[in-house]
Amino acid sequence: MRIDPKQALRELDARVARSEQDEADGFSRRGFLGSMFGGAAALGLVSGSALEASPLGTPALPVLADGMASPDDERYWDLVASQFMLRKGLAYMNTGTRGPSPRPVHMAQVDSLVGINTDYSGYSRSIYTADRRNEMREKMAAFLGAKTNEIGYALNTSDGMVAGTFGPILKPGDEIVYTNHDHSGGAYPVLHRAIRDNLEVGVIDLRPMTFHPPASPQVILDAFESTITSRTKLLSFCHVNYGDGCVLPVKEICAMARSRGILTIVDGAQPPGMMKLDMHDLGCDMYAGPFHKWMMASMQTGFFYVREDAQDRVENLFTTAPADNRSMYGTEISDARKETLATAAAYESRGSHNIPARVSMDAAIDFHNSISPEAIEARDRYMAQKVHRSLRAMDGVEVMTSDSPESGCALVAFKIAGVPTRDLNNIMWDRYNIYIRNVTHLEIDWDVNRVSLHIMVPGEHVDRFLGAVEEVAKEAKA
Ligand SMILES: Cc1ncc(COP(=O)(O)O)c(C=O)c1O
Repeated sequence: MRIDPKQALRELDARVARSEQDEADGFSRRGFLGSMFGGAAALGLVSGSALEASPLGTPALPVLADGMASPDDERYWDLVASQFMLRKGLAYMNTGTRGPSPRPVHMAQVDSLVGINTDYSGYSRSIYTADRRNEMREKMAAFLGAKTNEIGYALNTSDGMVAGTFGPILKPGDEIVYTNHDHSGGAYPVLHRAIRDNLEVGVIDLRPMTFHPPASPQVILDAFESTITSRTKLLSFCHVNYGDGCVLPVKEICAMARSRGILTIVDGAQPPGMMKLDMHDLGCDMYAGPFHKWMMASMQTGFFYVREDAQDRVENLFTTAPADNRSMYGTEISDARKETLATAAAYESRGSHNIPARVSMDAAIDFHNSISPEAIEARDRYMAQKVHRSLRAMDGVEVMTSDSPESGCALVAFKIAGVPTRDLNNIMWDRYNIYIRNVTHLEIDWDVNRVSLHIMVPGEHVDRFLGAVEEVAKEAKA
């Protein structure tokens, strides 16, 4: 399907304005404090004072004899959940938007801030040294299954999507293809670049309900293959669609694109921290991901991956780095700096960076490794399976997410018949002290509620959520 990017831009603007309005209306109408002291608290659903945070002394995670917790070991996962500082009683089920930091990650960020504000020079000379910075980058690359020279820091997913959509060398008449289930963070750069550079735009139409959930990954691959043309030069799509939690067959899509000389930029907003990742195995040219969602580091953290042998096809448009290896004073830059500029780190070169935020990324990797990314993925999927099974069995509840391991993950999209999605967010918040969201794209007839199941959610909160949905669905039917 070919589209007019200017018209698509107007529709995207309307969608984004509506979802900002949803957010503002939903919570300001009641007010944050109102919801804490009225609603759930009044119904006795909040244990203890609503303002009471978790105790300062977070219990340490036990080292397990066999190395990995099983996904249904509720005692272990309760301990993991106790590492978070969430307001007592709050069931936090929106990691897909923002993942709160567990205490060790929060404290690493605070320590760094204290170091900077008390003795910046001492902090840079003895703690945040060049060696430490190199180690951090190496650790991040290893965690993501990339080489160190393929990873740059980014502010968030959208930042990487902008770099990866504007960077590829394209000429007027070339085509970019994306999907109509993409997030605005990936869709805006596609449309803006197409308008600026006179590019064609193709859209993979994921509107039909046969995609929600898809019968198999092949169904999605077919939709991609039938949309691209000989003019397609860049393919932009999500690893996991944020509206329905569908995991796309990235590896197969990228292999197909590569065989046709098409560059791929993957919007990886959801998988990092939820799924074990291996950039090389995925085979994409570029991948943009956040650390502020399922990785649970500070806000404004993320990464931008560019495969080593794709780097010469992706220009660095936003650089403050010297073009000719000369500093602003005309002197030759150091060999170390030259080496850095010849890697994906060059894409991040935008002046001073937020050190405490980067330190929190490093601590977030340590936190994930201390539990094990595989164990986290298994636990998240275990909770999602339970939610799937239970919601499907409820009268008046429809689930749009796949429960197969290839196409499903820890985001579950659903709808209760007769309950507007925005209203359900508010009911969950007011009555049950549960934070979920809606994803509403009217221009593609998409309107669902969505829960994120990550390790700050103890089993008891999953049960509370399921009980709440059942109650609301019954009331709606009565
Ligand atoms: C699929 C997808 N892409 C992009 C974004 C934007 O992410 P960020 O805030 O990291 O830029 C989101 C945020 O929820 C998302 O779900």
